Amino acid sequence: MNPAPNLVLVGPMGAGKTSIGRRLAERFGLAFVDADHYVEERTGATIAAIFEHVGEAGFRERERAALAELLAGEGRLVATGGGAVLDADNRRLMRERGFVVYLQVGLEAQLRRLGRDRARPLLQHPDREQVLRELAVRREPLYREVADLVMATDGMTAAEAAARLGLQL
Ligand code: S3P
Repeated sequence: MNPAPNLVLVGPMGAGKTSIGRRLAERFGLAFVDADHYVEERTGATIAAIFEHVGEAGFRERERAALAELLAGEGRLVATGGGAVLDADNRRLMRERGFVVYLQVGLEAQLRRLGRDRARPLLQHPDREQVLRELAVRREPLYREVADLVMATDGMTAAEAAARLGLQL
């Protein structure tokens, strides 16, 4: 296992960061933390409510604070939110304090996995496909920039992807 203090998963919504991360954490004896969940627990509000009340910028501030706390420690597997890489401080911290895996997913698998999601504010739009394409154009280079390892997850279950990733770490 890589000697970095933490393992960090990045990638778009629907890449499987949470489902793969849980399994991988168990396998390597790391403490699994989903950064979105952590923000919800700390603030006592859902991601949707945070977006509604303080906007995306307010959410990003809370996300940054959560990642700074989580990555200050060690022995964690942190599943980040799809937009966490937008912030340069987050990217620097991820690289300094973690081994970063970019979980890739194609648009088709992404749409299938996200189904009729009602929890993700950015997806509450009539043309999800277009939203996901636009997010990818901006974010894909950032996921690559921050990643130590890139792995595609299309056509795999979370268990399969976790097993494959486990062999590469
Ligand atoms: C977001 C992704 C979500 C969550 C929020 C914003 C994004 O996390 O942080 O809804 O900007 O892509 P997941 O990638 O875990 O769905």
